[in-house]
Formats: sequence, C-alpha cells, structure tokens
Amino acid sequence: MSKHLIAPSILAADFANLQRDIEMINASDADWFHIDIMDGFFVPNISFGMPVLQAIAKHATKTIDTHLMIVDPDRYIKTFAGLGVNILTVHYEACTHLHRTIQAIKAEGMQAGLALNPHTPIHLLEDIMADIDLVCLMSVNPGFGGQSFIENTYQKVRQLKDLILKKNAKTLIEIDGGVTSANAKQLLDAGADVLVAGSFVFNAINPMQTIADLKNI
Ligand code: DX5
Ligand code: ZN
Repeated sequence: MSKHLIAPSILAADFANLQRDIEMINASDADWFHIDIMDGFFVPNISFGMPVLQAIAKHATKTIDTHLMIVDPDRYIKTFAGLGVNILTVHYEACTHLHRTIQAIKAEGMQAGLALNPHTPIHLLEDIMADIDLVCLMSVNPGFGGQSFIENTYQKVRQLKDLILKKNAKTLIEIDGGVTSANAKQLLDAGADVLVAGSFVFNAINPMQTIADLKNI
C-alpha cells in the first residue's frame, strides 16, 4: 500500500517568518506545500496573492499544491503555471465550464485538482472523474483556517473512493480543513491519500514532529 501524503497549509504559517516556516517544511517529512488563495468573493476572506506565492516558490523544495478559492479561476491559470505551481485546484462551485478549465490547467503542464464544498455531493463528479488528478474534499466551509472538522466527510471519502474505483481512475483524495491526529487515521482508513493540515501543524509546540506524527500514522 502506498504511503499517504502530508500537505501543511501555509495559511497557518507565521507570515513574518515565512522563509523560516518554509525551510521547516522542506526539512520535514511533509510531501507538499498547500497554498490557499482566497479572493474575498468566492469565500468571505482574502489570503494572499501572486507576489507571496512567488516568494514561497523561491524557497520551497517540494510539490506546490495550490488551492484556488476564487471566482472565475480561468483568468489566472497561465499565471500560476508561470509561478511554478505543480497542482492547481479549482472549486466545482466556481466553474461554469469545468471541463474546459480542467483541460486548460493540464495544457499548462500542471496537474488538475477539483475541490468540493461540504454541501456538494460526490455524484456530481461522475462525468469529470476521468479528467482530474486530485479531488480536494473540503471538511470545513472554505475561507478560514482553524475551523472544526465536519463529520459527514468520512462517508464522502468512502463514496468518492468507490467512484474512483468504479471509473478505474488514479485520482488522489485530499482532505482539507480541521485535520488533526483525532481524525487522520479514520480519514486514511476511509480512503484518503493526502491530508492538509494548517493550524494543527503550525500551532503545535513542535511542528516538525507533528508533521512526522501525521506521516507515520
Ligand atoms: C480553508 C483552507 C484550508 C486551511 C486549513 O479554507 O482551504 O487549507 O488552511 O486549515 P486548518 O487545517 O487549520 O483547518
Ligand atoms: Zn486549502
């Protein structure tokens, strides 16, 4: 069985010590950098934009997994590719012509991810599953770090896993929001491949050890 991946969310880092926190992740057992971009329209919060992503990419030595919580993401696909993003995730709820958006991401040489809000059912993915590399299941309502995990996520992971197997796809299942050591094992048992963790990692006394603990579940 292949080992699951850990993606610390930079949203919870100390922005006044960003290089230090990036180097901690470089040196840790983490697999990816999870980067949350929020526009104040799709979600009720604004995080950071391209100049900060560019600064992160300059120091990061691992896969850059960028989660766009923005309306009309097509506007910036080329820009994110140019900044060195490896996986670009857009929201199902933000894309009218989702198939076109996914193809545009892949045409820029990135892997395509699709995020689902907690209320969006898995069955809506039936006809797009074969085209996507990753599904990001939101286990909180997107917009803020530090929220509590929505329990309904477990059954969504199982449904999604069934759909992936049915379609014979290789799509990864990523869980984003409220991930801690209290729910990580159950998420992995249900079929999750990638765990995003923001506040659980960065609010820990020893973030590097916390990443190792999540990796070694
Ligand atoms: C929420 C973001 C998450 C967030 C996770 O809108 O998409 O990636 O940073 O933070 P925690 O782990 O604190 O819930
Ligand atoms: Zn995220």
